[in-house]
Amino acid sequence: MPLDKKFIDQFVNITSKAALASYYFVGKKNKNAADKAAVDSMRNELNQLNIQGKIVIGEGELDQAPMLYIGEKIGTMKGPEIDIAVDPLEGTNFAAQNLPGALSVIAVAEKNNLFNAPETYMEKISTKVTEKGIIDLDYSVKKNIFNLSEYLNKKPENITACIMDRPRHKDIINQLIKIGVNTKLITDGDVSGALLVTEDKYGVDIFLGVGGGPEGVLAAAALDAFDCNFQGRFLFASNEDKIRANKMGIKNLDKKYELNDIVKGDSIFCATGITSGDLVSGIKIENDQYITETLITHKSSGTKNVIKKIENN
Ligand code: FBP
Repeated sequence: MPLDKKFIDQFVNITSKAALASYYFVGKKNKNAADKAAVDSMRNELNQLNIQGKIVIGEGELDQAPMLYIGEKIGTMKGPEIDIAVDPLEGTNFAAQNLPGALSVIAVAEKNNLFNAPETYMEKISTKVTEKGIIDLDYSVKKNIFNLSEYLNKKPENITACIMDRPRHKDIINQLIKIGVNTKLITDGDVSGALLVTEDKYGVDIFLGVGGGPEGVLAAAALDAFDCNFQGRFLFASNEDKIRANKMGIKNLDKKYELNDIVKGDSIFCATGITSGDLVSGIKIENDQYITETLITHKSSGTKNVIKKIENN
């Protein structure tokens, strides 16, 4: 069953309010305070919705997070059963330092349709290419780029790859440069990075590299609505991480997840800008009113747009 369109406004309201709550901490060099403000707001607003919600991606597991923990039940418990993935403040550094790209993000699907991802790293790849066997996590960087080049009918030097600027990506970045690909190196915020393949206006053909697993699930929900592709594979740093994942029901730790293993059926995704970034503008103040901008997708209705909203202080 599709998710009722009425939920779009309700979830935009939630990310919009959470964005505003952390906006007061922008540039204050306190990422925890900025995060907490967004978390508190999001939890408070979610609890007022007529849903039987369950947090599947949140601020951590119960022993790490007092609220919005994985498994937390949320909402009035009247209404449809919904899986909810949240990142109340995506890009805590961006907010703390007043840099572009801080977002407040939510993705929802019907019960059991959104992947319950552990808090570990994930190897990821996103492109517009949905045909099988062209782009794949199992292929070398070179093979993926050459296949993409042939598929898009673009020389490698006219291809742009987005990747997080991290020491762990040194080899991949060097390979990309050697092949002649343009790189867009991002310092944080790989939900947004993964979504830059969705529209030509962003000028990104492929997103790849290792980032947060939860961020991968959030991005996958929007990529699905844009008919783009995503693959992810968890990386576990310790045995403890593996045990936790196992407890969450992940039996095959090396599994390569396809987009539809991560999100199934209908979904709604909302990302509101806190500081301006590639996807949306940050909060603006006009005539003492706060204007928020949110990227929304709703798979079943084909909604993919950016809307502005006035939030009163
Ligand atoms: P936070 O908002 O939790 O700080 O995450 C920002 C982020 O850049 C994510 O977008 C990304 O998935 C992750 O951190 C990458 O982690 P790391 O900084 O350890 O490479």
